Amino acid sequence: MTVAEGEARASVVEGAPWWRQAAVYQIYPRSFADANGDGLGDLPGVTSRADYLERLGIDAVWLSPFYPSELADGGYDVADYRDVDPRLGTLADFDAMLDALHSRGIRVVVDIVPNHSSDRHVWFQEALAAGRGSAARERYIFRDGTGTDGAEPPSDWQSVFGGPAWERVADGQWYLHSFAVEQPDLNWSNPEVRADFVRTLRFWSDRGVDGFRIDVAHMLTKDLSEPLPSAAELELIPRDGDHPLLDRDDVHEVYAEWRAVFDSYDPPRTAVAEAWVDKARVPLYARPESLGQAFNFDLLEADFDAAQFRAVVQENLELAAASGSSSTWVLSNHDVVRHASRYGLPHPARTADGHPAQKHGSEWLLSGGTSPVLDREAGERRARAATLFVLALPGSSYLYQGEELGLHEVAEIPDAERQDPTFFRSRGAEIGRDGCRVPLPWEPSAETAFGFGSGGSHLPQPEWFGRSAVSVEEGDPDSTLSLYRRALELRHALQTAESLEWVETGRADVLRFRRPNGWEVVTNFGGSPFPLDRADAVVASVPLVEGALPADATVWFGPVALRVGAGRRPDRRSGLVPRLDGLVRDGLAS
Ligand code: NOJ
Repeated sequence: MTVAEGEARASVVEGAPWWRQAAVYQIYPRSFADANGDGLGDLPGVTSRADYLERLGIDAVWLSPFYPSELADGGYDVADYRDVDPRLGTLADFDAMLDALHSRGIRVVVDIVPNHSSDRHVWFQEALAAGRGSAARERYIFRDGTGTDGAEPPSDWQSVFGGPAWERVADGQWYLHSFAVEQPDLNWSNPEVRADFVRTLRFWSDRGVDGFRIDVAHMLTKDLSEPLPSAAELELIPRDGDHPLLDRDDVHEVYAEWRAVFDSYDPPRTAVAEAWVDKARVPLYARPESLGQAFNFDLLEADFDAAQFRAVVQENLELAAASGSSSTWVLSNHDVVRHASRYGLPHPARTADGHPAQKHGSEWLLSGGTSPVLDREAGERRARAATLFVLALPGSSYLYQGEELGLHEVAEIPDAERQDPTFFRSRGAEIGRDGCRVPLPWEPSAETAFGFGSGGSHLPQPEWFGRSAVSVEEGDPDSTLSLYRRALELRHALQTAESLEWVETGRADVLRFRRPNGWEVVTNFGGSPFPLDRADAVVASVPLVEGALPADATVWFGPVALRVGAGRRPDRRSGLVPRLDGLVRDGLAS
C-alpha cells in the first residue's frame, strides 16, 4: 500500500509536495523496539509500534540502515544494499512494516550509504580474492604503497574516525577507507558501481519506499591522480568543487542520474543529502535537479541562544530559497549528544570562526557524565522550548527517536560495552555516539529492558530511563511526549506557506516570528519572564505565568481567524475532523 498524495498526515499546503514541510522521525532500528527478544531492535519491532508513531503525529519515518552488516559502524557498513539484516528481519518483514506505516499515512525514507560498503560485501571479498590489477579491485580504491616494499601507505591521510585512512591487505596493496577499516570506499569512477546503486534505488522504490537519506553525499567522487597530496596539503586545497576528496562538482553527475530514477516514479521519490560542505555549496545538493533537499546541521552546533538561533534560521531560509528546496531543521540525531543534554551543559568554547572547539558535550562524556555538571531539568526545559521553536519554522523538521521523551544522553556506558568505532580508533580520546543510541524505554520496568524487548538491550540502559518511559509519559499531560503530540497535531492544522516574518520584541534574548497565516511563535531564551500581549496561546512548552512567558520557554499562538479543522483530515476511526478548539482547550497552559 502506498500513501496517495493529499491523503497523508503530511502538513501539506495545497499543491506542495509532502516532503517540503514534513515532520520526519528518525528510527535507529537496532535501538527502537526488539520484537524477537535478541537484544537488538528489529523491523517487526517498528511494526509493533506503528500505532505509537501514528499517535505521535509524524509525517514520515527515516530508517537508519537495517541492511546486513557486521555492525562495525552501527549499520553504516552495509554488506548487502538490497536485503535486510537477518537479525532485524526479512524483506517480508520490511514490506509488512511499510504497509503498517503507509496505512497510517506515514511515509518511509531509507538510508543509502554509497561512499563505502562493508568489508563483508561480496564485492570486497571478491576484490581481496582476485588480487592486484583485477576488475574486482577496480570497484574500490586500491593502491600500491610507498617506501621500501610498499610497506608505507600511499599517503598520510587520516580517517574520519581517527587513525590511518589506508589499510594493507595480504598481497601488500592498500585500500582507502575514509571511515572505519571495515568500510572500504567505493570507486565512483567505475560505471559498474554507479549502475549498481541505480539498481538499489530502484529496488527500494519498487517496494514502495518514498525517499532516501544519502549518507555523506559530498564524498563519493574523488580525484586520486598521482602524486597524492599530503594530509597537510589537502587541508590547504580550497573546497570549491575541485578538492580531491570532498564536495567535488562531478558528484552531481551521479545525482543527476539518480534524479532521473526518482522522477520516473509517481509520486517522485525524494532524497535528502547529508552533505558537510561550505554553506554556499549546500544548494547544489538541495536543487530539484539534484537530491532535492539537504540537511542543515547548524542547530546541532548552536547554543540555546536567541542571536545564534535567529542567524541560523535566517541564513538557512535564504539558502533554501536559493536552491528551490525547503529548509531542514535538526536538533538531535544518531551522531550527536542529545539536545536535552547539550542544553543542560555550559556553552562550549568556540573557535575564531564560531564553531564549537570540540564536539559539544565531549568533555562531559569523557568524564562519564560527571563534569561539568549536567543540569538535567534546565536541559530538558530548553530542549522543549527549542523543539517548539523549530517545529513552527518553515520547512521540514527531522526528529530523532527518544527526543519526544525528553531523553538525555547516556554518559555512563562502561568502556567494555561501547560499540562506536570512534571510541576505539581514537583510543578512547573520543567517547563517540553510543550514548544517543541506547534502546528506547517503553515501560518503567528494567526487567524487560524497559519494554524494549525480553532479551535485554545491546547497549546498557540506565536506571533513570524508567522515568522517561513511553507508558509513563503517556499518562502525564505535562510530559515531553504529550507536548510533542500536541505540537505535531497542531502543526498540521497550522501549516502554511514557507516563510516567516520576524516580529521585534524589544529584548535581545526573546525571538518572535509570524508565519503567513498569522501563526505566531515566541521563544524566551533568557532568564526573566517575557510579558505577552496575547492571551490566546494554543500550546506552550511550560505553563504561562500571569500572562508572561517564563525563562527558557516557547509559546504558539494560532491565527486569529483560524478555520476550525482546516488542513486536517478526518480521524481514520471516528471519521471526525478533530477540532482545533478542542486541542487548544486540552493543550492550553494556565
Ligand atoms: C554519517 C552517518 O550519519 C554516521 O553515523 C556514519 O558513521 C558515517 N556517515 C559513515 O557512514
